[in-house]
Formats: sequence, C-alpha cells, structure tokens
Amino acid sequence: MKTTSFLAVAASIIVSAEALVLQQKQNGPRVVGLETERRPAVNPIHRDRLRRRGTVVVNLDNEETLYFINATVGTPPRSVRLHIDTGSSDLWVNTPGSQLCLQQSKPCQYAGTYSANSSSTYEYIGSYFNISYVDGSGASGDYVSDTVSFGGQKLDRLQFGIGYSSTNGQGILGIGYTINEVQVGRAGKPAYPNLPAKMVDDGLIQSNAYSLWLNDLDANTGNILFGGVDSEKYIGDLETLPIQAERGVFAEFLITLTRLQLGTQNIGGDLALAVLLDTGSSLTYLPDTMVQAIYTQVGAQFDSDQGAAYVPCSLARNKTTMDFTFSSPTISVDMNELVLDLVTSSGKRPTFQNGVPACLFGIAPAGSGTNVLGDTFLRSAYVVYDLDNNQISLAPTKFNSTTTNVKEIGRGAGSVPGATVVANPVAATAGISGTSLMGSLGLGNSATQSFTPVMGVILATATAFLTGVMLVF
Ligand SMILES: *[C@@H]1O[C@H](CO)[C@@H](O)[C@H](O)[C@H]1NC(C)=O
Ligand SMILES: *[C@@H]1O[C@H](CO)[C@@H](O)[C@H](O)[C@H]1NC(C)=O
Ligand SMILES: *[C@@H]1O[C@H](CO)[C@@H](O)[C@H](O)[C@H]1NC(C)=O
Ligand SMILES: *[C@@H]1O[C@H](CO)[C@@H](O)[C@H](O)[C@H]1NC(C)=O
Ligand SMILES: *[C@@H]1O[C@H](CO)[C@@H](O)[C@H](O)[C@H]1NC(C)=O
Repeated sequence: MKTTSFLAVAASIIVSAEALVLQQKQNGPRVVGLETERRPAVNPIHRDRLRRRGTVVVNLDNEETLYFINATVGTPPRSVRLHIDTGSSDLWVNTPGSQLCLQQSKPCQYAGTYSANSSSTYEYIGSYFNISYVDGSGASGDYVSDTVSFGGQKLDRLQFGIGYSSTNGQGILGIGYTINEVQVGRAGKPAYPNLPAKMVDDGLIQSNAYSLWLNDLDANTGNILFGGVDSEKYIGDLETLPIQAERGVFAEFLITLTRLQLGTQNIGGDLALAVLLDTGSSLTYLPDTMVQAIYTQVGAQFDSDQGAAYVPCSLARNKTTMDFTFSSPTISVDMNELVLDLVTSSGKRPTFQNGVPACLFGIAPAGSGTNVLGDTFLRSAYVVYDLDNNQISLAPTKFNSTTTNVKEIGRGAGSVPGATVVANPVAATAGISGTSLMGSLGLGNSATQSFTPVMGVILATATAFLTGVMLVF
C-alpha cells in the first residue's frame, strides 16, 4: 500500500536528498543523468482536477508538486528547483521582484528565483514569453538566454522564460516537442532548441531522447537520463512503439492501448485507444465504460464530489494485477500501486461508514477528456521518450533497483540500446479527437488538456454508477 498524504499540508516535505548521478563525458557514454525527487501530492484528485479543468486558479500554498530536479541558472549560479513536465516544452523560472514572489508567504522561496540583472551572462531575447497551463496557472514576461547547469553539465545561452508575472511558485522544465513551445504557438515564431534539443546541439548527448524511471511510490526518488537508458532499471527488454501523430504532427506522447485486463477479466479487448503518457498527472484516466467495469470488479465506490473512487484499503494486498497491453509489451500494475493511502492532517485515515478503512483508487473516468496514463501507471513502467524518432520504448520497471548500467542512445533509427521494434503495432482509432495540438493554441501541459468542461461530464457520468459513498474522516 502506498502512502499519500491527504489534506495534510505537506508543502515542505522533502523525502530524500540524493546526489545526482553523473556519467563521465570523456570516456564513458555521452549521457546526462540526474535524480528526480517527488513531493507527495497533498490531494492528488484535487490536483488532477485543477489540471484537467482549465478554469481554476491554483492555490499556491497548497501547490502539490510531483517530480522535480535541481538546476542552477546564471552567473554566479542561482539554484532553482523545476518541475519536470513532458507535457510542455518551455523552461521558465520565477524572479524575486514579481508580485507573486514578493507576497508575505514567500511562495517562491522554496524553489528559488533568478534575477536577470544579477547575472553577467544574461541576454535579453524578447518580451513575448507567455505560457498558460490547463490548470489555469501560468507565467509571462521575457524570453532570455543564460547559462543553465544541471546534472554536472552546463548549457550556455539556453533560451528560457522569466515569469515577471507568475501564478506558480515553482518554475517548470518542459521537455516536450519544440513545436509546443509558446514562442511557436503564441508568438508565431520558429521553434528554438529547448533543453533536450540544446543538449543535442551542444554535443552533450547524441539524440533528443530521455528515459524516466519514477520508481516505487514509497521510494520518492527516481531519475531522468538524457541521451541514455539504464538497463538495470527495467525487467526484460525494451519494446519500441510509434508515437501517434495528431493531424500529421508529432506533438504529444500518445501511444495505443490495445487491451486492458484485470486478472483474468477482460476490461477492454481489441482496443485501438490513444492514451497519453503524462508524468504530471497523479491518477490514470480511462474511458468511463471501462472504468465502470473496473470499479464493479474491485468494488470501488465512486464519489462524485471528488470525481474519483474509494476502495477498501485491504485491496492493496490483493495479488490481482491490472495488465495494460500496447500491441506489445504488456505492463502489469500491481494492486498496491493502484491503492493510495490517504492520511488527514491529524494523521487519521478515512473510513467507509461501516468503519472499513477507505483508500483512493488510482483509476478515474476520463469523461470527455483525454485518456491519460498518469503516475499510478507510469511507476510500473520504464519509459524512453525518443523525440528524434517519434517513438516510445517501454518495459516493466525494476522497483528499487540500486545498480546501474547506463548505455548511450545513439543517433538515427533503432539507436535505443536493447530495444526491439514491435512488429505491426496497432494504430489508434479512438481517443484522439479529445486531444488538441497544444502548439497551435499556445498552451502548456497538453497532458490533460481538454476544451470541454471535463468535470461536468465526469459528474454527469458519475451519477450512473454513484453508490453514495460516505467517508468518515
Ligand atoms: C535538490 O537540492 C536540495 C537542496 O540542496 C536537496 O535537499 C535535494 O535533495 C536536491 N534534490 C535533488 C533531486 O537532487
Ligand atoms: C535591469 O536593469 C535595467 C537597467 O538598470 C533596468 O532598466 C531594468 O528595469 C532592470 N530589470 C529588472 C527586471 O529589474
Ligand atoms: C498572456 O496570454 C493570455 C491568454 O491569451 C492573456 O490573457 C494575457 O494577457 C497574456 N499576458 C501577457 C502579459 O501578454
Ligand atoms: C521500495 O522501497 C520502499 C522503501 O524505500 C518500500 O517501501 C517499497 O515497498 C519497495 N518497493 C518494492 C516494490 O519493493
Ligand atoms: C482480488 O481482486 C479480484 C478483483 O477484484 C477478485 O476477483 C478476487 O476475488 C480478489 N482476491 C482476493 C483474494 O481477495
């Protein structure tokens, strides 16, 4: 069973202090690796809901962070912590003089800020940086370039944004396709090399490709490897699938789910469903009918207020797995990865009215929104995002692995070491219409983007299988 603090104010919980992993550039492979760290989401449903809605302003004091990395910006270097976001493509940082950062509660102090005028390597680019995320947060100000260091490596003249106006106390490191940069979508300018692309240009890595290992929920650390894979972090072989283009453009990390099984029970067979791999989403969101079938099987009770379901916590000990097939491979997710323990600020666990401890279930209905494989799925998979070849390679994760065997990803097709291309992969025929090309709209976090009132639909659908769950806190 996993522990997720719920209602607890966990803004300053840092669980581990791992040093970064650095590969030697000279003699070893050209790979840049660094540790990621996770702050437990205070209330994962609430967080996802904000992310999915596009209307609500995020409560900054309660900003629930997922995976982040440390970096420095400028000369002399200033430390910043940045969310890693595969759903957007710009890096931006806060600046100490913004209205947000000057607030009494010092919302930017935790993650750090950057002051352009204090950096001798700062160069101004233009005042057209303006990003908005689906959750209603955003930042705007200047595009600049400066030195950015992380994982023991240094990038000179990397373009990024400064949030002179910002609603988010922590900067974001968007590592998606450059077509999704707001400079392209909003300002109509050509793409610039964002962080992974610039690493290729500067010769730090060979391909615009990176691997993410989120590890076990209880472990709280994982890592990201730019330009490499670590064969000690997964089981068996990596299998390579095409990323699904949208209107002919590769813009998001969509792959095709072909089958979903719960134990021996078929939840969906012969599927050709586009699903988005999104590290920024806590839960997994699937079509309502499939979710309903799963809830029936596991005895989950849907709470329309939360837009999510609760199960008896004892389900975490059930050995049944949820098996996600993508033509090939199949990623099996253990029940204990799907049963999230909730703890209130007073240390209590919610119960159903009959006194049975209630846990949050890691799968929720997508309504009319995008189908998203969020962290409750992704922790069970080792995923290589190969932007140069528009492919995703994946394998079952090796939890809590302490050994490493890092190999460089070369250039060109078939260069992910140890990965086999899946023959005749199914192309998605469903689940694509709900997604939009973020670049054309200048929105970040395409991840859970939807232009329909998602929650309204979820709520309407929910009543169909609402069981009137009452939780006691
Ligand atoms: C980031 O830096 C802080 C402060 O030095 C440290 O406590 C934390 O462990 C670091 N996190 C990562 C992911 O390196
Ligand atoms: C930086 O310094 C210049 C010149 O002193 C000043 O005009 C500008 O407002 C400063 N910018 C910021 C963001 O403080
Ligand atoms: C950024 O874009 C949003 C949405 O288009 C707009 O409302 C806002 O005024 C813009 N901000 C700046 C500083 O241009
Ligand atoms: C991984 O390690 C954590 C403790 O750091 C432990 O709670 C968890 O059960 C381990 N996971 C697996 C799958 O062994
Ligand atoms: C485990 O869960 C499955 C699906 O909900 C159920 O069919 C099975 O009976 C459960 N097994 C045990 C031992 O509770």
